[in-house]
Amino acid sequence: MLEQSYYDKTDEIIGSHGTEQAALIPIIQDIQSEYRYLPPELLSYVAGKLGISEAKAYSVATFYENFSFEPKGKYIIKVCDGTACHVRKSIPILERLYSELGLSKAKVTTDDMLFTLETVSCLGACGLAPVLTVNDKVYPAMTPDAAAELIRELRGA
Ligand code: FES
Repeated sequence: MLEQSYYDKTDEIIGSHGTEQAALIPIIQDIQSEYRYLPPELLSYVAGKLGISEAKAYSVATFYENFSFEPKGKYIIKVCDGTACHVRKSIPILERLYSELGLSKAKVTTDDMLFTLETVSCLGACGLAPVLTVNDKVYPAMTPDAAAELIRELRGA
């Protein structure tokens, strides 16, 4: 069960976009940027307000990979494992981060909700490989030690 404040905020977001069916994506984008994920309860709520079936709203939201139905951490770290980064040893960076954060492929967010660790197939910065991003800020030419240091800095931030 979500608190009432989530619904109040959603009403505010709907108010700024209107209730045309085309407003669905901008509305759920705003919800996701507010909460760093898209609570399924709110997707159903928005669908109701816009007169869209829940099934349709889910199919739209799941079509766009950017929407997440799981809560994410304050810092979303994306380690690139595209070809350029892979050959420049992105996997040891990923493994070091998994071990520093106590995470794994099956558990990608820390219990304190500070970090979410994901992989991506190319961040479009291959010349800077190996690359990772934290909340879309690019960190070039990473090493496992530099990644561990970055985590320490973020924890202290
Ligand atoms: S392969 Fe990593 S940025 Fe392109």
